[in-house]
Amino acid sequence: MPATASAPVAVTGAEGFIGSHLVEALVAAGHRVRAMVQYNSFSSYGWLETLPGEVMNDVEVVLGDVRDPGSVHGLVTGTEAVYHLAALIAIPYSYRAPHSYVETNVTGTLNVLEAVRHLGIPRLVHTSTSETYGTAQTVPISEDHPINTQSPYAASKAGGDRLADSYHASFDVPVVTLRPFNTFGPRQSMRAVIPTVIGQVAAGERTITLGDLRPTRDFSYVKDTVAAFLAVGTAPAADVVGRTFNSGTGEEISVGDLVSLIGKIMDTELEVRADQERIRPAASEVMRLVCDAGRLRAATGWAPAHTLEQGLAQTVAFFRDPLNLGRYKAGIYNV
Ligand SMILES: NC(=O)c1ccc[n+]([C@@H]2O[C@H](COP(=O)([O-])OP(=O)(O)OC[C@H]3O[C@@H](n4cnc5c(N)ncnc54)[C@H](O)[C@@H]3O)[C@@H](O)[C@H]2O)c1
Repeated sequence: MPATASAPVAVTGAEGFIGSHLVEALVAAGHRVRAMVQYNSFSSYGWLETLPGEVMNDVEVVLGDVRDPGSVHGLVTGTEAVYHLAALIAIPYSYRAPHSYVETNVTGTLNVLEAVRHLGIPRLVHTSTSETYGTAQTVPISEDHPINTQSPYAASKAGGDRLADSYHASFDVPVVTLRPFNTFGPRQSMRAVIPTVIGQVAAGERTITLGDLRPTRDFSYVKDTVAAFLAVGTAPAADVVGRTFNSGTGEEISVGDLVSLIGKIMDTELEVRADQERIRPAASEVMRLVCDAGRLRAATGWAPAHTLEQGLAQTVAFFRDPLNLGRYKAGIYNV
């Protein structure tokens, strides 16, 4: 879909990890972006504050909140596409504050669907997560795999997904759901495993504190996940609308092996110390995730362009920059 001079695209969660990379990619593709940043009294624009001025010239920041229908209505008015990424995403925090997950991930998504429906926006990309599958029952996981929500986070995301499906079925809302598997790269929060390990090493630690080392995950470099967003956001409607697409590499690695690989890339002998606080309730821990992205590849031609090692090298370079590391709290358990 060519960028038009008149209609911007809207992004929720724009100031976050994946959202800020998506904003950059949309601007690079010639779009103007209306970026929702969650209102805060510090006037902080999150990671958008670190983007170059020439990118931000094409970005209109709108402070708002997806829990507020009027706020969402204003954001999406007059846009040609909406990328809905805003969410509460930390699993451990979802044990503590589940109501806020339902309000943000379920009601927030409902507000986006309602606005897109009533304003007749031509394309909505809704963001799901591989966590909705729970521990793999068959591998690789295709979109036909059962949904098994093992945490309040996963349940709230699945609730948003089901609303998206229902709005397509009931009101013909042109929504496509992207279901990324674990994504990593520069700007990710230290609550996620890769930044936790790299950040602790970059801060001078040689004994890394972690939770369970056994689970396996399928890690995508953030630029590949962003390419998947653009692929489903710009593909002909007949190919993608009303459908759900996994994105991931098809390769799995255990957390333990990942730590060894990071140690090798950072040229450091690492020792791992298990931290009870980071161990999740047994039935809530998703033990295995590995992606079948065949449907996305067939519909859009998308394929990952970075190996795990290449992505890790970029992420290490980011965290080794003291300016970037200084934005994090490497010494605490980030939830
Ligand atoms: N990181 C991953 O591995 C991964 C994997 C699969 C899916 N996802 C999904 O991708 C999306 C982006 O995740 P991320 O990793 O960039 O996390 P993130 O926490 O960096 O981004 C989420 C953003 O949503 C914003 N937000 C939260 N509540 C809001 C509200 N009430 N109103 C407006 N904005 C609000 C936050 O400020 C933040 O910028 C999420 O929907 C997440 O579920 C992430």
